[in-house]
Amino acid sequence: MTVAVDGLVRPAPRLRGRLELPSDKSIGHRALIFGGLSGGPARVALREPGEDLLSTIDCLRALGVSITERKGSFELIGRPSRGATLDCGNSGTTMRLLAGAVAGLPLRVTLTGDSSLRARPMERVATVLRAAGAEVETGGRAPLTVVGRDRLAAVTHRLPVASAQLLGCAALAGLAAEGETRIESPGPTRDHTERLLAWAGVPIRRGRAATILRGPARPRPFELTVPGDPSAAAAWLVAATLHPDAELTMVRVSLNPTRLAIVSLLRRMGADISMIPTADAGPEPVGEICVRGGRPLRAVRVAGREASEVIDELPLVAIAMASCAEPSELRDAAELRVKESDRIRAVVAGLLAIGAEVTELSDGWRVGRGVPRAASVATHGDHRIAIAFAIAALAGIAGEVELDDPDCVAISYPGFWSDLTTVSA
Ligand code: S3P
Repeated sequence: MTVAVDGLVRPAPRLRGRLELPSDKSIGHRALIFGGLSGGPARVALREPGEDLLSTIDCLRALGVSITERKGSFELIGRPSRGATLDCGNSGTTMRLLAGAVAGLPLRVTLTGDSSLRARPMERVATVLRAAGAEVETGGRAPLTVVGRDRLAAVTHRLPVASAQLLGCAALAGLAAEGETRIESPGPTRDHTERLLAWAGVPIRRGRAATILRGPARPRPFELTVPGDPSAAAAWLVAATLHPDAELTMVRVSLNPTRLAIVSLLRRMGADISMIPTADAGPEPVGEICVRGGRPLRAVRVAGREASEVIDELPLVAIAMASCAEPSELRDAAELRVKESDRIRAVVAGLLAIGAEVTELSDGWRVGRGVPRAASVATHGDHRIAIAFAIAALAGIAGEVELDDPDCVAISYPGFWSDLTTVSA
């Protein structure tokens, strides 16, 4: 039976399979940008890169880095050497990391993007870069013009939000600073910047209270095969966990502990998930993740640190919450309102449409089981919303779901629809 045609998804009779996921977006952006800063030749192997990673590649080329591709391996030669206007597309990570990278180069660079990205907060980036001595022109959002300099100031940043993008931006500016750049975050963030830069020879470490980098420094050229994306894996973890007849394995996935809070959360709800470490990819642990379905889930409360740790998986967490007899609650996730869409609003509207019991909160939601029904769901062009509601239909938490923009999954997961067909066959 075909379960998905043109954005119309039906419940699958069973889920089985072994999947290799697209390369991790967060690691991929960093590997490309650090490879570009190294001067090369650096090689970054990417499996099915999504549109966000292609935006980073295009921007690096516009800055003068030569990038050639052979069978999914991207070779980067030369450092960013010319000013340009960069189209970051839908990718906040591209914009925030590149702003930090060019701040430490004698270039004038304007960063812009699509209408979603142009609506997202960039004042936080300007504040960090100005503190380090770069000039930044912005009205608080993109377009953002950075006038960089060879030498920046080594400063202590106290980030206003727990954001790995902002931390990465500050660290990249720190590469051009003379002395110790210290970055304090109000909560947990993924640590790919620290891992990859340290592996490429930059004196950087994440301590308990702060990330500290000693500049000036430049990453050494490297070769890296970027492992699969745990946020893409989360789609299948939720699908299989909710489905009564499911068994899925995902191979060569990043098992970076700062990305696996979704596994702990689903296990706390009652999910059957196991992880088997295999070979590392450079500084990133890699392995297989196996998941079996058929267990009823318990309601949970997600708040504080945990809300930041599962930030990208929260639309999928909402679907898991909507399968529970008792209501679940999410708090402390106001940052979701300034992602690729207002994800609190989009998730709540989608859940109401599929028949769940939902209340919108300023910084989260309260969700419990309702009477599943067929629905049209507005994605707002947001890949994570599209994937979450496709999974709701596939796992039977909703009736048939029709998505208004099924193609937006390509931002992070171009092979999503073909993998959905594979596991449902
Ligand atoms: C990312 C960090 C997170 C995440 C985004 C990717 C990164 O954003 O939501 O998808 O690669 O640094 P924030 O750090 O801004 O929360």
